[in-house]
Amino acid sequence: MRQPALTSTASFQALETHAIEAEDWELRGLFAADPQRFPKLTVDAAGLFLDYSKNRLDGRTLELLVELARERGVETQRDAMFAGERINLTERRAVLHTALRAPRGTPLVVDGQDVNADVHAVLDRVRIFSDAVRAGTWLGHSGKPITDIVNIGIGGSDLGPKMICLALRQYAHPRLAMHFVSNVDGHDMDAALGKVNPETTLFIIASKTFTTTETMMNAQTARAWFLQHAGEDALARHFVAVSTNTEAIKTFGIDPANMFPFWDWVGGRYSVWSAIGLPVALAVGFGHFSDLLAGAHAMDQHFQEAPLEANMPVLLALVGFWNRQFLGCGSVSIAPYHQDLSRFPAYLQQLDMESNGKRVTKGGQPVDTPTCPVIWGDCGTNGQHAYFQLLHQGTDITPIDFIAALRPGHELENHHAALLANCFAQSEAFMRGKTIDEVRIDLQAQGLSLAEIEALAPHKTFPGNRPSNTILMEYLKPYTLGALIALYEHKTFVQGVIWDVNSFDQWGVELGKVLAKKIEAELTGEAQPALHDSSTNGLIAMAKAAV
Ligand code: F6P
Repeated sequence: MRQPALTSTASFQALETHAIEAEDWELRGLFAADPQRFPKLTVDAAGLFLDYSKNRLDGRTLELLVELARERGVETQRDAMFAGERINLTERRAVLHTALRAPRGTPLVVDGQDVNADVHAVLDRVRIFSDAVRAGTWLGHSGKPITDIVNIGIGGSDLGPKMICLALRQYAHPRLAMHFVSNVDGHDMDAALGKVNPETTLFIIASKTFTTTETMMNAQTARAWFLQHAGEDALARHFVAVSTNTEAIKTFGIDPANMFPFWDWVGGRYSVWSAIGLPVALAVGFGHFSDLLAGAHAMDQHFQEAPLEANMPVLLALVGFWNRQFLGCGSVSIAPYHQDLSRFPAYLQQLDMESNGKRVTKGGQPVDTPTCPVIWGDCGTNGQHAYFQLLHQGTDITPIDFIAALRPGHELENHHAALLANCFAQSEAFMRGKTIDEVRIDLQAQGLSLAEIEALAPHKTFPGNRPSNTILMEYLKPYTLGALIALYEHKTFVQGVIWDVNSFDQWGVELGKVLAKKIEAELTGEAQPALHDSSTNGLIAMAKAAV
C-alpha cells in the first residue's frame, strides 16, 4: 500500500509541534523533575537492558512517536516480514532472516516450500561439518587436521562472521586460527597466505551471488596458490563454498558436497544466521552458534509480541528517529565498552547504512525528510582519547550508543570497574555537561586570578544536553550477542518503515561496480581508455605510467 508523505501525516505534524515545545529542554532539568525517569525510560528484553532516559524527550514525546509508528504501519509491516511476504519490492523478494533462527519444527511455507525444514537441513550440515573440522576428523590432503580457516567474502559475507568470531573469541577452538580476506587489494590475501600452510588450511568462499568481483578474484588467487602446493584432487579437502548460486560454485570447481546453500530471501547484511555463519560454527562450535541463533530468536519474539510502548527495537528506532529528525543529528556513534565488540560498529555501518541510506520511498518518490544518519564508532575508551573531544565540545550533536557487559570475560583485577566507570562517566558527562559557573567555581578553588578564570572558562565549559542510549548485558555470550544484533536489525527495519524506504535493496553500490569494470579493462590495457573527465583520465594515466 502506498504511504502518504511522512510530513503530511497527522502524527508527524503533532511531533513537529511538540518538537518546538521541546526545543529548550535540558536533560539535567528532565532528570531533576522526575526521579522516576530511569525506571520509566528503560526496558529489558532477551537478556539485554536498554536505558534511553538520557535522550531529550519525555513521556508525551514517546506517546507521539509510538502514534507515528502505528500510523506508518510498523506492526502490519513487521507481521508481513515475518510471514514471508515479498516486502523487498524492487527485487520482489521475501525478507526472512528471522526464519533462519526460528527453532526446528516451526513451519513457514513460502512459495509452497517449508522454509523451516530447508533452514534446518542446512544447519544440520553446518553442524556435521564444523564438528568434524573441530574434532580433527576432517583432514587435509596430507592427512593432517585443519589448523587455519580463511574466509573469503566481502560485505555481508565477511563483516558478520568476522565481528562475531572476534566477539566470541573466549569460546574459540584452540587449534583453529581464523582469517578473513575481503579486500581486492592483494595485500590482504598476501598477508593471509603468508600465515597459513596449504596442508592444513580450509578456504571458505562466501558469496551470496558468487559473482562479486573482489571475492571471485580472491577465490581464484587462493585456488591458484593452493594448486602450487597440491593437485586438483586435493581441492575437495580444502575448499568449501557458501552461496545461493549453485551453478557458479560448480563452475568454480568446488565439490557439490562442499556447498552450503542459502536463499535469495536472505539479504547479504542479514545473512550471518545462515551458512554464512559457518566460520562462527567452526570457531566456537555449533552449540554456541545455536545459542547465537536462540538469542536472536528471543529478540524476534519480543519484537513481535511486546506492545510498541515497551518494545526495545521500536523504542531504539523511535528515539533515533527523534534525534535525526528533530535534533538534526546527522551521525550516530557506536561506542562498545568491550574490546571484543571492536568490530561491531563496522558491522552496524553496513546493516544500517546499506539498508536505510536511501533517498526515494518505496513508491519511488523523493523522501521528504532526512533518512539514515552516518553510523560510525570504535571501542569507547579508545574513542575517548581520540574523537570524543568533538562529541563533547564540537558544534554538532552526535548521539551515542554505549554498549557494555556487567561482568567481564577475564579475571584481571580492577580493569572492569575502570572500564564501566568510564562508560557511565561519559554518558553522564554528555548528559550533564559543565556550566560556565561550575567551571568558574573550580578555577577559583584552584586559586586562579579573575582574569585567568575568564580567559579559561569558555574552553572548559561543556554544553552537555547531548543524547545517548546505554545498552547493557550481563555477559558477552553467544545468546546475548545474537539478541544484540537482532535488536539493531529490527531497529533498522522500524526506521525504514517510518521513512517508507526499502531497507532490503542496495542499488547504490551498483554504479561504482560498473565503472570499476570499465576502468579495470583500461588499466590492464584490454580496452582503449574512454573519455572520462580530466580528473579520472589523469588518475588512469598516472596508474598506467607507474606499471
Ligand atoms: O555490493 C554490496 C553487496 O552486494 C552487499 O550487499 C553484500 O553483502 C556484498 O556486496 C557481498 O555480496 P556477495 O555475498 O553476493 O558476494
